[in-house]
Amino acid sequence: MHSFEDLSAEFSARFLTQHFPTHPASLYEPANYFLGIGGKRIRPVLCLMGNELFGDIDPDAWHLAASIELFHNFTLIHDDIMDKAPLRRGKPTVHEKYGASTALLTGDVMMVVAYDYLSKIQAQHIRPIMHIYNQTAREVCEGQQLDMDFESMDRVDLSAYQQMIGLKTSVLLAASLRIGAILGGAGLGNQQHLYDFGKNLGLAFQVQDDYLDAFGDPAKFGKQVGGDIVAGKKTFLLIKTLEVATEAQHREINDLKKADDAGKIKGMLRIFKACGVDAWARELKEQYMQTAYQHLEDIAVLARRKEPLQQLAAFLVQREY
Ligand code: IPE
Ligand code: IPE
Ligand code: MG
Ligand code: MG
Ligand code: MG
Repeated sequence: MHSFEDLSAEFSARFLTQHFPTHPASLYEPANYFLGIGGKRIRPVLCLMGNELFGDIDPDAWHLAASIELFHNFTLIHDDIMDKAPLRRGKPTVHEKYGASTALLTGDVMMVVAYDYLSKIQAQHIRPIMHIYNQTAREVCEGQQLDMDFESMDRVDLSAYQQMIGLKTSVLLAASLRIGAILGGAGLGNQQHLYDFGKNLGLAFQVQDDYLDAFGDPAKFGKQVGGDIVAGKKTFLLIKTLEVATEAQHREINDLKKADDAGKIKGMLRIFKACGVDAWARELKEQYMQTAYQHLEDIAVLARRKEPLQQLAAFLVQREY
């Protein structure tokens, strides 16, 4: 059994390899730039843990892990264009540094290389894994579209928010675990519990992401703090605030629409705090994590084998970056 630190170090060392040709450098240098500026490498580690839950790590799991991390990075490059984000992992985003057109292509080519890694695994596993992989990829697109649709809507309720973050974020964490488990020979029941563990963990993970987008320490977070407020994202912070705000606070929120970006951020953060967002963030994460841990418990393997997943889950919902 390996810890998050072990698997993350081993994966990162292997992932350092050259994934792209050199020509044209104008396409591949941005790809290498983005992979070179870090990232927590959570999804590949989840895939490896999902695999190791059922036995020794299968050599093909490293291909799957690389594939997933490339796929995730592709989604981030495109997400940063969509969200007009200037910063990621403490560095300029790809579109900021190389322009939006190159960033689109860099993302595209990264996705193609992600599928190349997938095709390297043993033939008998490709079909079932590809099925889940493709379904997940489609769902991420659906979630990303909903996320953008919500920007121009006045009100979004918590269940629509949950559906949206489930699609844009959770399914990839859940699928990472599940495809690792399939490679490890897990039965359907165990696959489903592991998937549901990942799905709920992913919801808590995105709640933390939304919380940090507003209240993170800029020095640690690595992304522009307040970006969601400026973009009009319907995060749980806004949804809950609109639910409980007084009339005066509603007026204030309305007036802030005319403020400049810095004014909007400052004003909204004050109202968020006054409305008690800290407690909701804790509660929401707690709810999702209880469901997640229930599913983890229901997986039919020795409790000891689940410890690395527990350790990783605890880190993910408390993370500061
Ligand atoms: C960012 O994911 C995108 C979300 C789903 C919130 P991560 O926080 O895992 O990003 P990196 O890879 O560590 O930078
Ligand atoms: C992104 O959600 C989810 C995907 C990239 C699919 P966010 O837009 O909240 O992620 P960050 O905050 O930019 O990492
Ligand atoms: Mg974003
Ligand atoms: Mg986004
Ligand atoms: Mg975010």
